[in-house]
Amino acid sequence: MLEMERVCTSYGPVPMLRDVSLRVGEGEMVCLLGPNGAGKSTTFNAICGLLPADSGTIRIAGRDVKEAGPERLASLGVGFVPEGRRLFPTLTVRENLRLAFDAARNPGLDFEDRLAKMSALFPRIEERLGQGAGTMSGGEQAMVALARALIGDPRLVVMDEPSLGLSPRLISEYFQIVARIRDEGKAVLLIEQNAETALSIAERGYLLIRGQIAISGASETLLKDDTIRHLYL
Ligand SMILES: Nc1ncnc2c1ncn2[C@@H]1O[C@H](COP(=O)(O)OP(=O)(O)O)[C@@H](O)[C@H]1O
Ligand SMILES: [Mg+2]
Repeated sequence: MLEMERVCTSYGPVPMLRDVSLRVGEGEMVCLLGPNGAGKSTTFNAICGLLPADSGTIRIAGRDVKEAGPERLASLGVGFVPEGRRLFPTLTVRENLRLAFDAARNPGLDFEDRLAKMSALFPRIEERLGQGAGTMSGGEQAMVALARALIGDPRLVVMDEPSLGLSPRLISEYFQIVARIRDEGKAVLLIEQNAETALSIAERGYLLIRGQIAISGASETLLKDDTIRHLYL
């Protein structure tokens, strides 16, 4: 579903990602870990097509992201959860979901059907559909941002630190929903600081340090890895 091959990016003259290669197979859940400033959001932006790569290739469902561009990515079947959620605060929850649904241009899907699915997955969304997204609590906004990524029934979901700022109780609720998404067969790239939680639900993981993939492997291997234990556990 997602294939990054030796991707390099820079901010002006400053190199950031160096030869980053990673892949997420169909229906696979993979996490990308790394300390603050390692380049995780830079990787997210490169996948979204927001930050052009200097070299290397990024393919989603076999299509080069460079040719697709950010708007077309939604219609390739990708749902994004950006860092900080970035909902439209003055629009209602329903309007936020509607915009994402329209962008996905997934033929044969009915908005009201999808809305009902999202209400089942996120019990608190239904009664909040008419509420301004900006007036919701952080936890509610996190759930809406995930519902927005899912409303067009994507095949791949890419999330950038979705649990940031949530209470431990909400984090566990949030990851239960993420695990259900994985069980439905969607491919997931989960970018996280919360290594233990991420590795407990993902099959594989990568560790990004200063713009380079330092370690990659099966989750159970990474949980025992000294560098990861030293950094996180
Ligand atoms: N727009 C930008 N211009 C210049 N430098 C940036 C920009 N965005 C991020 N950076 C720098 O790139 C590095 C990686 O940032 P980022 O990808 O956001 O890290 P992470 O998400 O892993 O915390 C940081 O040193 C950050 O300051
Ligand atoms: Mg980040």
